[in-house]
Amino acid sequence: MTLCHAIYFSKCLTVDPEEVEAILTTSTRNNRRLDLTGALLFDERNFVQILEGPRSTLTTMLQTIMQDARHENLVLTLFDQIPQRSFKGWEMCGTRVTADVQQRFRDIRLPAVLQPDAMTGQEIWDMIVTVVDEGLNVEA
Ligand SMILES: Cc1cc2nc3c(=O)[nH]c(=O)nc-3n(C[C@H](O)[C@H](O)[C@H](O)COP(=O)(O)O)c2cc1C
Repeated sequence: MTLCHAIYFSKCLTVDPEEVEAILTTSTRNNRRLDLTGALLFDERNFVQILEGPRSTLTTMLQTIMQDARHENLVLTLFDQIPQRSFKGWEMCGTRVTADVQQRFRDIRLPAVLQPDAMTGQEIWDMIVTVVDEGLNVEA
């Protein structure tokens, strides 16, 4: 089995927190079944997601996500083979980028606001790892 991971960002088209909650609920359920793991960061305007799992499952899921009308302008910034998972045990770690999360990002010199098109791949990676490792995740 070839293990891969992918990172993308996109523009959020829904302002309804319940809609984001629905995305997280569906993702947790499906990803557990499909052996996908990862994290979703979001604010009012943006989504940033990392997903990892078996290559063919991951590509199929990305195609589904790309067609989702709740966001647009999806840009895939990374797709690569990996030796092991970084988000084992996380079917989907949903994190709203609140003022507290922004402050933590500032403390460690990461961009405070989700501006995926102005951030480097390393910064996106560091943000995601920080919220997961430090338990900053606040579900929708
Ligand atoms: C930003 C974003 C991220 C998503 N991430 C996932 C995901 O990781 N897993 C998943 O199953 N669906 C995800 N979805 C939802 C899918 O696009 C799709 O609605 C869902 O997989 C359909 O599942 P269902 O057939 O069980 O209803 C995401 C949607 C958006 C807008």
